[in-house]
Amino acid sequence: MAELWCEMVIVVLGIVFLSCGTTGSSGKTSSFVRSQWPSVDIPLDNQVFEVPKGRSAPQQVHITQGDYDGKAVLISWVTTEEIGPSEVTYGTSKKNYVFNAVGRVTNYTFYNYTSGFIHHCLLDGLEYDTKYYYKIGTDDSAREFWFETPPKIDPDAPYTFGIIGDLGQTYNSFSTLEHYMHSGGQTVLFVGDLSYADRYEYNDVGIRWDSWGRFIEQSAAYQPWIWSAGNHEIEYMPNLGEVFPFKSYLHRFATPYVASNSSSPLWYAVRRASAHIIVLSSYSPFVKYTPQWRWLQEELRRVDRKKTPWLIVLMHVPLYSSNLVHYMEGESMRAVYEDWFVHYKVDFVFAGHVHAYERSYRISNIYYNVSSGDCYPVPDNSAPVYMTVGDGGNQEGLAGRFWDPQPEYSAFREASYGHSTLEIRNRTHALYHWNRNDDGKKVPTDSVIFHNQYWARNLLRRRLEKSHSNSGGDQINC
Ligand SMILES: *[C@@H]1O[C@H](CO)[C@@H](O)[C@H](O)[C@H]1NC(C)=O
Ligand SMILES: *[C@@H]1O[C@H](CO)[C@@H](O)[C@H](O)[C@H]1NC(C)=O
Ligand SMILES: *[C@@H]1O[C@H](CO)[C@@H](O)[C@H](O)[C@H]1NC(C)=O
Ligand SMILES: *[C@@H]1O[C@H](CO)[C@@H](O)[C@H](O)[C@H]1NC(C)=O
Ligand SMILES: *[C@@H]1O[C@H](CO)[C@@H](O)[C@H](O)[C@H]1NC(C)=O
Ligand SMILES: [Fe+2]
Repeated sequence: MAELWCEMVIVVLGIVFLSCGTTGSSGKTSSFVRSQWPSVDIPLDNQVFEVPKGRSAPQQVHITQGDYDGKAVLISWVTTEEIGPSEVTYGTSKKNYVFNAVGRVTNYTFYNYTSGFIHHCLLDGLEYDTKYYYKIGTDDSAREFWFETPPKIDPDAPYTFGIIGDLGQTYNSFSTLEHYMHSGGQTVLFVGDLSYADRYEYNDVGIRWDSWGRFIEQSAAYQPWIWSAGNHEIEYMPNLGEVFPFKSYLHRFATPYVASNSSSPLWYAVRRASAHIIVLSSYSPFVKYTPQWRWLQEELRRVDRKKTPWLIVLMHVPLYSSNLVHYMEGESMRAVYEDWFVHYKVDFVFAGHVHAYERSYRISNIYYNVSSGDCYPVPDNSAPVYMTVGDGGNQEGLAGRFWDPQPEYSAFREASYGHSTLEIRNRTHALYHWNRNDDGKKVPTDSVIFHNQYWARNLLRRRLEKSHSNSGGDQINC
């Protein structure tokens, strides 16, 4: 009886896959045009950038995952007048801070800007699935926040991620962040291009990094943002004598790269609930034999779909996009990594960079050979779905022009501001929405039920796993 039901599910899923895997004229180009806020940065005296009260009060508070498996949190903040302690006190009930941790402090200059004191403090040995309250700063400058740790690594752990890219600090950015904060998202997967401070010069570069830190605090102090770097983080400005790439970004945003044995904060991996998240750097060497290439090769081998069924890759430059802006900029990385993504059956590759939204079909172009003439993407059930979510709302505005006709690999595209949410239900199902900022409302516009590339796609595997785990433990509900 149970077996029969399982077969039926697979038959139904099979049809869904067929329709997902088939390309053709079914791709949709949405012509929706919403009235948008002007693409200008919010003035510095606006209250979204307000400096907290109290002498040298901690500001720009943001947290990220601090280890490989989600039992640690890295808390970062900035103090200005005085260094102040790099200490966090915390506990599991409000106002009862029974634990403490001490971090490190750093500062930097950028042309004639001098940063505040940037604190990074690791809280480790935390319990899973627990709400923690934390306090930073002293006396009347002290500030209190909270966060929730993820459930322990489990293939059926439900979890909701938000995906935001190219955010900036305009009125559209504000709208995106506000909508995200009402989406039920528990962790942000950020696909690069954070503050757009590099659009400024001299000391204003640093000042706009500070304002951005205060802007995102309303979300980032309470839930982890998983960072990846974009081109606006490079800040190669020889005219200002600033030639050390990612200087502001690396000082301000800590990542748990050591936990995944990476040699650089710019690429690393974390596991969270039922997901394995791999962060890549589009703007660091990635070709064969480079540190990033060697690390990715190792990391993909470490992925255990029995523990973390959902395999997600983040990068800044999309490998598939049919927008005229930044067209084919991802080709070099695609040529190097795409066959791994197909081989390891990556579920999703999220990218930003292009200021529009686009979702691909499952397609691959791994037989490309510079001599043979095989150079077109073909339907491929093992391939990831590629999503471009570079529409957070920065001052450069939208990338409104797509290639016409819509290429066969493109399933849905629209040039509006917004963000995505990925609601993982269990090892087989995840509900995905791209949410357009629609005149003050968040409107789920592109909604898809995704089936896991490892668990939902292979009847034989499910049967084998079932017969191996009959005595409970690893339950498969099919
Ligand atoms: C960092 O702060 C210390 C203490 O104020 C100061 O002496 C030092 O010059 C600063 N470093 C940089 C790189 O700005
Ligand atoms: C930094 O340099 C710019 C251009 O030289 C100047 O306009 C500005 O006032 C300086 N700011 C500070 C804080 O020194
Ligand atoms: C990183 O390397 C160390 C030493 O080789 C090893 O013990 C550890 O398990 C590795 N971490 C991961 C996440 O693979
Ligand atoms: C590339 O194409 C050429 C010409 O068709 C063929 O001889 C060669 O084996 C191919 N190489 C690879 C790596 O597929
Ligand atoms: C996973 O969740 C989906 C959607 O909520 C549900 O239909 C399906 O039965 C669940 N599968 C398992 C294995 O629990
Ligand atoms: Fe970009």
